[in-house]
Amino acid sequence: MSLSVVILAAGKGTRMRSSLPKVLHKVAHQSMVEHVIDSARAVNADNIYLVYGFGGEVLKAQVNGDDLTFVEQADQLGTGHAVDMASPFVKDDEDVLVLYGDVPLTKVSTLEKLIAAKPDDGMGLLTVKLNNPTGYGRIVRLNGEVVGIVEQKDANPEQLLIDECNTGILLANGGDLKRWLGNLSNDNAQGEYYLTDIIAMAHSEGKSIATAHPDTEIEVEGANNRVQLANLERAYQARQAEALMIAGASLRDPSRIDVRGTLSVGTEVDIDVNCIFEGNVTLADNVKIGANSIIINAHIKQGAVIKPNTIVENAVIGEGCSVGPFARIRPGSEMKPDSHVGNFVEMKKTIMGGGSKAGHLTYLGDTEVGKNVNIGAGTITCNYDGVNKSKTIIKDGAFIGSNASLVAPVTIGEMATTGAGSTIAKDVEDDALAVARAKQRNIQSWPRPTKK
Ligand code: UD1
Ligand code: MG
Repeated sequence: MSLSVVILAAGKGTRMRSSLPKVLHKVAHQSMVEHVIDSARAVNADNIYLVYGFGGEVLKAQVNGDDLTFVEQADQLGTGHAVDMASPFVKDDEDVLVLYGDVPLTKVSTLEKLIAAKPDDGMGLLTVKLNNPTGYGRIVRLNGEVVGIVEQKDANPEQLLIDECNTGILLANGGDLKRWLGNLSNDNAQGEYYLTDIIAMAHSEGKSIATAHPDTEIEVEGANNRVQLANLERAYQARQAEALMIAGASLRDPSRIDVRGTLSVGTEVDIDVNCIFEGNVTLADNVKIGANSIIINAHIKQGAVIKPNTIVENAVIGEGCSVGPFARIRPGSEMKPDSHVGNFVEMKKTIMGGGSKAGHLTYLGDTEVGKNVNIGAGTITCNYDGVNKSKTIIKDGAFIGSNASLVAPVTIGEMATTGAGSTIAKDVEDDALAVARAKQRNIQSWPRPTKK
């Protein structure tokens, strides 16, 4: 049977105090509604209908996919009215799952439980028992069977004592849903068309309403303001941290790691505090990540050590390499096995050959460094003439003296040496020594200036 998902996202989100539609506020790397869309895809939705009210253009610009249909709800007349906006698309013989665009942390396994719970000729309802049910719709049961939902504002004192609450997430047959939505009225305390009224309709038609429950409350919590959004962010990060530890990584403090994308880890990986991982990052076996490091779209291979305060972006760090502290490895860079980059070294579009070293205070841009090269402190590749970028090639075994300027395009030959303080603008042959600096003059008994 096919499955359509209707995501309600028409609320303005006034309490966010933002020009952005509420559902576009982010949890980790993506907006809340993108998390919900991911969940819909994970349960194999054939169609996803996104009901929007505000910021349609911004929403369409940011959220996309062939399986996605945007449905406008110009006036927010209630959750029932919102779902009804998708009715023209819904098929009679399919199941329809209703999700909320501002409830991003529902586990896929929970949605699967709900789908499994729904009887063929009935409904599925996700409910949760809350210590403080204030504000939520209450699940009304008779002899254990669900017979309806009553909203907080419409509930009598006895009903207000019910602690089983409506999460809003439900599953119904398409034909049933359309029939029930067509019969809704807004004769209630809020003057809204309540989606929740379909429960009593289902019951009166003799359909059974099965319930499923989330593992934790956070799965069904939404964000109306930035405080709640931050809570969701922390909960999401705690989940990532737990998954990493279960996968075998050591986190020195699981409350001080942020994963904004996908982080895969091998065995014996050790991550110190305050690290941020973005995009697609892999850490192979025995990798160590020092405190305060930021790793973006990078592959860190076996046994490599990233020392504190290092930034790696769109780069590959080879087996056994060490990087940092305070290094910046920029896009298009690759460190071959056992190479080393130390403090205040910046690399961009640079290949660092196996066993080569740049220990201190260096900029390498558009550079190919061969094997076993030593790059002295304060080396700068001058790769930019103000208009064009040019390459520097440093061949195997070369030795670059400290404080060198290598003016690209330039090639330093195999086993060549450059003297400290040199500005090297011409190629250096294999095995040669290049010295390019003013000759030292010593003036004997030189009188120091005196104060006038
Ligand atoms: C709703 C449920 C309540 C449940 C609670 C869970 C109804 C009548 N009540 O109440 O039983 O306990 O959620 O949080 O369904 N929306 C639209 N268009 C509208 C109205 C709402 O898209 O016209 C969207 C909102 O953006 C929001 C969601 O639907 O994402 C829920 O709306 P909200 O007004 O917050 O519902 P509640 O009153 O909290
Ligand atoms: Mg409301």
